[in-house]
Amino acid sequence: MSSQRKFFVGGNWKMNGDKATINEIIEFMKGPINTNTEVVVGCPQCYLMYTRQHMPASIGVAAQNCYKVAKGAFTGEISPAMVKDCGCEWVILGHSERRNVFNEPDKLISDKVGHALEAGLKVIPCIGEKLEEREGNRTEEVVFAQMKALLPNISDWSRVVIAYEPVWAIGTGKTATPEQAQDVHAKLRQWLRENVNAQVAESTRIIYGGSVTSGNCQELAKKTDIDGFLVGGASLKPDFVHIINART
Ligand code: PGA
Repeated sequence: MSSQRKFFVGGNWKMNGDKATINEIIEFMKGPINTNTEVVVGCPQCYLMYTRQHMPASIGVAAQNCYKVAKGAFTGEISPAMVKDCGCEWVILGHSERRNVFNEPDKLISDKVGHALEAGLKVIPCIGEKLEEREGNRTEEVVFAQMKALLPNISDWSRVVIAYEPVWAIGTGKTATPEQAQDVHAKLRQWLRENVNAQVAESTRIIYGGSVTSGNCQELAKKTDIDGFLVGGASLKPDFVHIINART
């Protein structure tokens, strides 16, 4: 990892937890955490304020989704302004579960990213290929198309952390090998060099997600273009602290 890029570890609690569980997570997050790692936890929307109020201030809190406009008749949605009003600075957008369970298309995700940045949030857009796409040698084509869709709406790259999450590795226990992940991360960085500029390519964090555990995080973290992780299942357990400290 380049010295320009601070190691970044995000937790994605998904639709898990209640106040009692969140209290337990907050307790283990008070453990010895490497200050060279930027840490953010993505919690269910209804616990954003609670988590922000109780989580140590050094740890960022992210929403797991938000809509593409500031307010209005959009029952069930929340806006970036509301996330900010809850004291949170981050949002995860375009997670594969949003794309594949809730059928969010590239254009909607891109518009959400654009509005979240405009509203002042920091954003973790997620991209990644499905198993059949990898097996059909279409990984590059798929992730580049996802990046291309995001591009017109990214006004400030310093507030963006790209999460590469191969869909086949999410929640399956089947992690990409360090070589497989490094290969895609390097190609994404090259894509940024060619489609944005060299400075953005060098400074943008590209994190890996998909069955990251305390057992595999250190090998993954050694790779040049892997700048951290987005962690689902393991972010609910004390093991998460080991993942945060993967580079120590
Ligand atoms: P997982 O989820 O770590 O449970 O595979 C990762 C994610 O969905 O962000």
